[in-house]
Amino acid sequence: MVVGEVVMIKDVTEIDRDAMTSLAIVLAACTAIGIALTAFIHVVLGRVQKDVAVRTARLAETRRVLAHEQDERQRAERELTLQQERNELLEARARMAEELSEANGKAEAALRENEEVTARLREAQSELLATARAAGRAEIATNVLHNVGNVLNSVNVSAGVVGSTLRNSRVAGLARAMQLMQAHAGNLGQYLTADDKGRMLPGYLAAVSEALSNERDGMLQEVDRLIKSVDHIKDIVATQQSHASAANVIEPVQPSELAEDALSMQGTALARHQITVIRDYADLPPVPLDRGRVLQILVNLISNAKAAMSSAQQGEHRMTLHVGRFGSDTLRFSVSDAGEGIAPENLTRIFAHGFTTRKDGHGFGLHSSALAARQMGGTLTAHSDGPGRGATFVLDLPLVPASGSATPEAATAV
Ligand SMILES: Nc1ncnc2c1ncn2[C@@H]1O[C@H](COP(=O)(O)OP(=O)(O)OP(=O)(O)O)[C@@H](O)[C@H]1O
Ligand SMILES: [Mg+2]
Repeated sequence: MVVGEVVMIKDVTEIDRDAMTSLAIVLAACTAIGIALTAFIHVVLGRVQKDVAVRTARLAETRRVLAHEQDERQRAERELTLQQERNELLEARARMAEELSEANGKAEAALRENEEVTARLREAQSELLATARAAGRAEIATNVLHNVGNVLNSVNVSAGVVGSTLRNSRVAGLARAMQLMQAHAGNLGQYLTADDKGRMLPGYLAAVSEALSNERDGMLQEVDRLIKSVDHIKDIVATQQSHASAANVIEPVQPSELAEDALSMQGTALARHQITVIRDYADLPPVPLDRGRVLQILVNLISNAKAAMSSAQQGEHRMTLHVGRFGSDTLRFSVSDAGEGIAPENLTRIFAHGFTTRKDGHGFGLHSSALAARQMGGTLTAHSDGPGRGATFVLDLPLVPASGSATPEAATAV
């Protein structure tokens, strides 16, 4: 048993020694392997590093090339765009040049057309001027005719009155009485006292003489009117002649006398239409006035009032003629009637040339009257509360008349 144990101990030591040796060998081998591995790894790493460096350099080169190519491409693109833009610009310039020349052509054509139109306009203007002058002359002629016509109406009526007075005159009775007296010339005394017819003769003669004297008064009145009317016609003609010489006759006139003259020219017609005239005259001194023109206006207004009342069936035929001062520097004439009145929308239209509502009217009276008022520096206005409510026409004139004289052009200014 002990021997066995020694052997055993000896074996253990040997084993340890072998193990140690093996271990050392293993360790050495491991170390060698480690060194070799390290060296290998080192070499491999070096290679890899080198390879990476080469690849990186290549990559950088490639990137540089690529960047360069991109730059080139961008430049080329820019150039292309620029070229395109330049081309477009050139095209646009060409188009513009074309359009410009076209526009130039059009402008020249328009200019030519303009010149032609201007020439035509000038022609038309001179034609118009000529027409206006002719119209002006025609209007003046119408004015004269209208106003003379107005007065001729009165002349006609007065002449008619004188004619019928003469036709129905009691002169015939006087002649018969004279025949009777001549037949009894031998015994006139006895005839006048004893004969039945003879006794009535003195009374008859007295009646005839009174009738004749009334006839004479009436005829004198009519002849007076006739003379005034004829004078007024002369005035109208003289006024128109003075238009030509641009001089108006301004003379001191008693305004109420002027109103009376106008009334007297329309007197017979007023009486025939049974129109009551109310005179409302202020006491005024003579005033410098264009007699003819004022008379012409008043005659027109009175004639219109008369027409407005004769057309109005009912109501009082009453006309008021007012003459007075308005404020300190205006002379006012007004003619009010109780006639057919004027609708509000017609209050201004009635002054227009040719506006009339009368079947025998011309629409000239108020137009020419308003003009005449204006030529004297005054105004003519119409007032009415409406149809059926009468009308008032007011003529206002400056108490110091306008110094300007009317010219034929001014006469056609409305
Ligand atoms: N007093 C008035 N009352 C009512 N309407 C009037 C009066 N005066 C004028 N008118 C209206 O004004 C219109 C124009 O008057 P104007 O005197 O210009 O012409 P007319 O009398 O018609 O014709 P004429 O030219 O022959 O005088 C008349 O037709 C009438 O309608
Ligand atoms: Mg009239």
